Amino acid sequence: MSSFILVTGGTGYIGSHTTVALQQAGHQVLILDNLSNSSVSVLDAIAAISGQRPDFIEGDIRDATVLARVFCDYRIDAVMHFAGLKAVGESVQFPLRYYDNNVHGSLQLLSAMQTANVRTFIFSSSATVYGDPQFLPLTEDHPLSSTNPYGHSKLMVEEILANLYQSEDYWRIARLRYFNPVGAHSSGLIGEAPQGIPNNLMPFVAQVATGTREHLQVFGNDYDTPDGTGVRDYIHVQDLADGHVAALKHCLNSASELLTVNLGTGIGYSVLEMVKAFERTSDTSIAYKIAPRRPGDIAACWADTLLAEQTLGWKAQKGIQEMCDDAWRWQRHFASREKP
Ligand code: NAD
Ligand code: UFG
Repeated sequence: MSSFILVTGGTGYIGSHTTVALQQAGHQVLILDNLSNSSVSVLDAIAAISGQRPDFIEGDIRDATVLARVFCDYRIDAVMHFAGLKAVGESVQFPLRYYDNNVHGSLQLLSAMQTANVRTFIFSSSATVYGDPQFLPLTEDHPLSSTNPYGHSKLMVEEILANLYQSEDYWRIARLRYFNPVGAHSSGLIGEAPQGIPNNLMPFVAQVATGTREHLQVFGNDYDTPDGTGVRDYIHVQDLADGHVAALKHCLNSASELLTVNLGTGIGYSVLEMVKAFERTSDTSIAYKIAPRRPGDIAACWADTLLAEQTLGWKAQKGIQEMCDDAWRWQRHFASREKP
């Protein structure tokens, strides 16, 4: 019986890129996704890139019956857990939905793993767990806090994982704190496809460039940053995917591990710098208007990347021009495919 990496949320944005990276590193992938924020057609795109169609089960991580079947029918070496909800504003409106999906869902998954004796777990956490930075760059020992149910759900799962590791130290766990994933696969075949109006900067900018949206609202130009707009650590999603493969390798080579590590580039760019970079890529002018600050936003945030380099031997390779080029290629491919 050959062995698989179980990727929950694998038809989603980060999960699909990581699936490709895993396949290219020689792993077989089984995806479990309820398709609440993705399409089954992503499987064809993954197959077109890697030459290998991942196994797929449509199901929910909160469904114990589905999970039992997955662990019974497949030999699973490790679980990469991407499935969850991720919109900060929506989490304030529907907190129970977020705790149910992100916390209860993770508990169900971990219980099924424990029963099946699968103890290697890679978790999608977020730089949001650092709250409003007290210092920059953000090191992994920066104090933690949360200002919304989404961030709190990530903190809760991080703590559950620490408790689990304390109780049974033969677990091998990586808590990966992503900064701002952007871009798309260089093939243009997979990328981020937000439903409705995008919450995040880059998908919004890309839609202004295609004419789908009239102008970008820049949320605040009075922050204590060089040009007054918010500064973030944008990381190419393929670099992020490679970081997962490195974390998996590290865990599989350890007898016992609880690793908490930032996945970012260590460089911050402002909203206006990202707009300018996208204008260069798309050869368009991105219309924007300065709007009030978005509630809950922080001024600036970027990662200290030393621990990732030292423990995983991983470092992001792609710069903002590549992030914009690949986002633009995907946007044109995706937008043209959507047209009747
Ligand atoms: P995404 O929405 O594109 O992918 C998540 C996938 O999980 C989707 O395909 C969705 O259908 C699936 N899903 C959701 N709930 C499920 C459930 N209960 N059972 C089975 N499948 C379910 O999101 P993404 O951007 O790829 O994010 C992946 C993970 O990374 C999430 O946990 C997110 O919180 C985390 N993260 C994302 C970002 C970001 O900016 N994209 C930043 C930090 C952390
Ligand atoms: N911004 C705009 N206009 C927009 C959208 C965003 O000016 O239409 C600005 C924001 O104010 C911020 C920057 O662009 O300064 C980045 O905003 P995003 O919404 O793209 O990203 P955030 O940093 O707010 O949050 C993202 C994810 C979170 C995750 C966090 C981790 O959405 O889930 O990165 O760093 F927790």
